[in-house]
Amino acid sequence: MNLLHIDSSALGSRSVSRELTAAIVAAFAGRDPDLHVTYRDLAAAPLGDWSPETAADTVLEEFLAADVVVLGAPMYNFGIPSQLKAWIDRICVAGRTFRYEAGGPVGLAGGKRVVIASTRGGLYATGAAAALDFQEPYLRKVLGFIGITDVEVIRAEGLNLDEGHRTQALATAREAVAALPARAA
Ligand SMILES: Cc1cc2nc3c(=O)[nH]c(=O)nc-3n(C[C@H](O)[C@H](O)[C@H](O)COP(=O)(O)O)c2cc1C
Repeated sequence: MNLLHIDSSALGSRSVSRELTAAIVAAFAGRDPDLHVTYRDLAAAPLGDWSPETAADTVLEEFLAADVVVLGAPMYNFGIPSQLKAWIDRICVAGRTFRYEAGGPVGLAGGKRVVIASTRGGLYATGAAAALDFQEPYLRKVLGFIGITDVEVIRAEGLNLDEGHRTQALATAREAVAALPARAA
């Protein structure tokens, strides 16, 4: 099985999403000794903004080859980091991952399982602030657009509120990683 591991946090070793993606990948590796992991660090090796001149074949091909994608996605200003957006811009390619038909767009990248490690300083899962969440709903929508509906979110939120929220958020997220269903893509 091919697993594509993506990190996008700019916070290096202090990053919670990086800790979570590493734990998620380790959980998959523990169940599949033949797991082949491709790693892409979008903060250490930024893709830069998309333009007609940007060659993105490697990024697209490694995405297409993946059975499972583990995506580290912090919330930055209610959305995703610009480097993760640059990656999204490389994998949404007409004729490769979606196409337009008379009835509307059709996703071509189905059959993959995506696990998102979502981190945020505040709380958005419930209450009025949910309307400000352009991170998780965006990722679900754009992945759905290219045909991927098997999307799980491992969430650690409220990380920057106080020590109590942070400790609780980390414990909840670590438990969710341990409980990831053991199934193939
Ligand atoms: C540039 C930047 C923008 C951020 N914007 C938000 C935000 O809009 N809402 C929020 O709750 N937290 C925000 N945060 C806090 C991060 O989501 C939080 O620190 C999270 O842990 C980052 O993920 P990481 O630990 O993997 O780097 C922001 C952090 C940074 C660095």
